[in-house]
Amino acid sequence: MISQAGIEQVLATFSPHLHLVDVQGWLTPVQQQALHALAALTRGPVLEIGPWIGRSTCCLARGLLLRSERMPGDRVVSIELNPDDSYFRRNADGDVEFWCPGDTEMRGIAKADLFDTHAAPVISSPGGIVARLKETLARHHLQHLVEIIVGDFKDVLPVARYGLIFSDVCHTPYEIERMVAGLRPVLTPGTLLCCHDTTPENRDALEQAIAYDWTTMSGSLHIGMIGEA
Ligand SMILES: C[S@@+](CC[C@H](N)C(=O)[O-])C[C@H]1O[C@@H](n2cnc3c(N)ncnc32)[C@H](O)[C@@H]1O
Repeated sequence: MISQAGIEQVLATFSPHLHLVDVQGWLTPVQQQALHALAALTRGPVLEIGPWIGRSTCCLARGLLLRSERMPGDRVVSIELNPDDSYFRRNADGDVEFWCPGDTEMRGIAKADLFDTHAAPVISSPGGIVARLKETLARHHLQHLVEIIVGDFKDVLPVARYGLIFSDVCHTPYEIERMVAGLRPVLTPGTLLCCHDTTPENRDALEQAIAYDWTTMSGSLHIGMIGEA
């Protein structure tokens, strides 16, 4: 099993020159390299929750290509909700909140200009986010490495032994609580769970909810090895 020191050393030195400027997204170049390295270092299928139009998906899939040995079934299983306009609410400042059916709190918020420039045109285009995700993977010749599943991950999650789980549905403690509940069946000892946009408050929420063997940070990526509950 990979050690914390091993992961930290690789994250500090690994530089595959991966910087996907042609796929809009929120991962910094360093975070893209971190995902690339983690997918290369782990074993088994990779689970991704929340690919948007594929910046993180490309990093993970290209990491699979670096593995010295790739087993049948090693792929990125990428689950995207593909929300329509009804999931987004504008607040008094014009910023846009993300709510799922039945929620009692928002799960995240985007500045009005960012939402209007980047998100709204994708969400309202034919096929929405998933159509753009497929287009990105085809353009990067990675579609054979990615299985796309459309839906709320808690309803459609394939239960398997994943070496690496990357989650981009963890923007608030409220969303983290729902993420952890939905992911429980696949949070098995030895799996690496990597969560984006981790503030100190979100880090506390993650580490209170999940029994980790160890955790570390790379920028706002929270990386932890699942331990025995
Ligand atoms: C911040 S974006 C992801 C950005 C992307 N990982 C990147 O690298 O650019 C979050 C994504 O998660 C999706 N999402 C939110 N809640 C979800 C859920 N419950 N199940 C599956 N996908 C979800 C959203 O539709 C959105 O595409």
